[in-house]
Parts: sequence; structure tokens; C-alpha cells
Amino acid sequence: MKKKMNYKAPRGTHDILSTDALGMSFLELKAREIFKKHGFEEIRTPLFEDAALFMHSIGRTTDIVEKEMYTFEDKKGRKLALRPEGTASLVRAFIEHRMDTIIPSGKFFYMGEMFRYERPQSGRYRQFHQIGAEFFGNQSPVADAEIIILVQDLLFAAGIDEIDIRINSLGCKKCRPSFRETLIEYFSSLENLCKDCLKRLKKNPLRLFDCKIDSLKFVKAPKILNYICTSCKNNFYTLQTLLKSVNCSYNVDETLVRGLDYYTQTVFEICSKKNGAYGTVIAAGGRYDNLVKELGGQDIPAVGFALGSQRVLSIIDEHKLLNNFGTPERIFIAVIDQELFNEAFSFAVKISRYGLNNNKNISVFGPKNEKNLTNQLKYAEKIKASKVLVFAKNEFKNGKLLIKDMNNRTQTENFIDEL
Ligand code: HAM
Repeated sequence: MKKKMNYKAPRGTHDILSTDALGMSFLELKAREIFKKHGFEEIRTPLFEDAALFMHSIGRTTDIVEKEMYTFEDKKGRKLALRPEGTASLVRAFIEHRMDTIIPSGKFFYMGEMFRYERPQSGRYRQFHQIGAEFFGNQSPVADAEIIILVQDLLFAAGIDEIDIRINSLGCKKCRPSFRETLIEYFSSLENLCKDCLKRLKKNPLRLFDCKIDSLKFVKAPKILNYICTSCKNNFYTLQTLLKSVNCSYNVDETLVRGLDYYTQTVFEICSKKNGAYGTVIAAGGRYDNLVKELGGQDIPAVGFALGSQRVLSIIDEHKLLNNFGTPERIFIAVIDQELFNEAFSFAVKISRYGLNNNKNISVFGPKNEKNLTNQLKYAEKIKASKVLVFAKNEFKNGKLLIKDMNNRTQTENFIDEL
């Protein structure tokens, strides 16, 4: 009796198979093209970091740090965490390599796996892939606009144009504290707040807007844009002028607060407007002017974004994607007379390197360790080969091989040197 396998991919994780893997590569390729155009360079950081880095940057009272981090101790008792996002790691690398002092600016991008212990559901995984960028050293809203336009370009390049860009300003070190007090006063006057809201009320009142249970009760809450200082207002106004100047449509959403504590001034989220995925947040980001300094670096402002690759891929039309990528033609190499096996093998290597009839977009299968030609052809059908190149003694003597076209079932003789 066949033994049953007892292992499954851990809950919230997925094997990324064939078309999806191709989709991921396509997205990364498009992202690289766009990052290059905007002058961003790649940084690859470790998958795990000192857990304290995330606590200090994302914030101790955030869901990510309180509930979702994969933390563990290594053999020396160091407390580490699988990265739940990329920004904290990028800032750590920026400071560690003294880029904050030597060249106090920089444009960096990253792509890779992130880990959050969330309740798995459609579009929410425990291991997921992000593509993101961070722009250090530019205080001006021009940098915010560049980041938002870059994400928009990336989504357009991936074939996603039904999007809703929502923006808000969370104020700065100077104006946020008084808004915080106003909010605490307002929320304290409400009755029957949920357990989480009560807990967050004193520590992080802005986060109450994100509450899935109570947020509808807050329609009359004070609006942050009425409280931010003149400088924050001017920056937010300039950002909008810049977005308008390139016809980038957006909506101001005063309830947008984001679930990470490091943000100052501009925050944004980009949602899908496509049927079936309406409202899915596919990308998000904002400005974080205090984080570099708070983590021990110089006083350097920054702004960035990250998109969820799986979420983006879930709304791309798969056919369009494959057309964009160009599906390779599948070629199978068959051998009738086994003494020709080595010639067939070296021919397979040659065409996989240099292409067949000038077509380099091919996938080469075979020759197979199978003597029976019928079985070889059955295999070619199974793998959906469009052509079978047959090595047979008589033809090979004359420098030729047979090409079977599997779609229209025709067969031609061809000079090997001409292929
Ligand atoms: P975030 O909003 O936590 O921001 O995540 C960014 C994107 O990652 C989300 O919009 C979503 O598409 C995707 N994402 C998040 N969690 C999951 C999940 N569990 N499963 C699948 N996809 C997910 C950040 O991570 C910030 N670091 C963005 C940033 C960069 N801000 C400034 N710079």
C-alpha cells in the first residue's frame, strides 16, 4: 500500500507554482525596470533581525509587534525575529553602513519574503512577498510624489489600472501631540469602546480609526487635517499639486492612519477597484522623518512604500501576463536509434543555449532514457510539446533530422546545420 505523506506547507504559507512563479518573476522584472528609471538601487537584507529593531521602529503597541511577529531565540539566547516588513531593516542597513553620514541620501529598493503571524485568509498570508522602496534624505513633498507615482507606474506596467490612491497627512513631531490629546479627550467621551480600543486609547489613539469593531462610531471624530501645523499643511498641499500636475488621481482620506508607528506627515494606501477584489489594499507607504534618528542615525528624513506581490498577482489577468512574458515554445528531442543518443543530447544542449531557427524563447525537453518511440511521443504530448525533433539513423547519415509538428501532425526533413 502506498504510504501517505504527513507533511503540508505550514498554515498561511504557499508553494508558488508554475504560472504564479512566472507572474512573480514578471512583476519583479517590471519593478526593476521602473526602479532603474527612478535611480533606485537594490539592497538585500537578512530575513531575520534583532527583534528589538522592529519593536523600536514599527512600535510596541502595533498589531505587527504585539501579535504577529515570528520571534525566536538562537542558541546563544539572542532574541531574533523574522522580518515582518522591509523598512526597519533598510533603515538599519542605511545607518550600519554609515550612509547616513557619508552620503546622507539614497534611493533603495528591495524585494523578498516577509513574515507575519496573521489569521490566514484570501490575500493575507503568514509568509508573503513584498516589493518596496525607501527614499532617504529628501524632506520635500516632491519625494512623496515621486514614490506615489512610482508605485502607480509599477501597477500600470503590471496591467493594473483600476486603482484608488488614498492619501492623508499625520502631522509632525510638533503638531501631532496636540491632536493626540484632542483625540484622547474625544474617544474618552464615547461609551462601550471595545477592549482593544480601550487599551490603545492612551498609548496610541490614532490607531482607534483602524478598529474593525468600533471605527463606524468615529464619524464625528476630530479630523487631523484641521489640527496639523502650517508647514505640514503646505507640504500636503504641494504634494496634491504635484500629483495633479501629472494627472495622478487620488482621494484624501482623513481616517487613513496606517498600522505602523513610524509615519509622519504623508501616508497613502492604494486599493484595487477591480470587481472581485474591490477594496483590497495592494500597496501602502508614507513618510517617516524621525526613524533614522530614533534608530541611532543622523537626522535624515525618508519616505517609502511596499506592495504585496501576491495581492497584485491575484488581480492580474493571467493570460495577459503570459502574453507579456512570451510563453516559450516547447521542443522535445526524440531518439529512434539509440547509438545517436549522445548526438541528440549535445544538440539539445546547443539549442537550449542558442535557440532553434533563431527562436530563443524555447524550452527543451529530452532526450529521454526511453527506447520506445511511441512512449517518447506520448511523453511529448503530455508535456504539450509543439515540435518533436527526431534523431533517426538514415536521416542522420545525410546530416538531417525529422521534425514532427505536433499541432498539425505533419513531418519534415531538415538539415541539422541549418536549424
Ligand atoms: P504594510 O501596509 O504593512 O506596509 O504592507 C504593505 C503591503 O504588503 C500591503 O499593502 C499588502 O499589499 C502587503 N501585505 C501586508 N501584509 C500582508 C499579508 N499578511 N499577506 C499578504 N500581503 C500582505 C509596510 O510593510 C511598510 N513597510 C510600507 C512602507 C515602506 N512604508 C514606508 N516604506
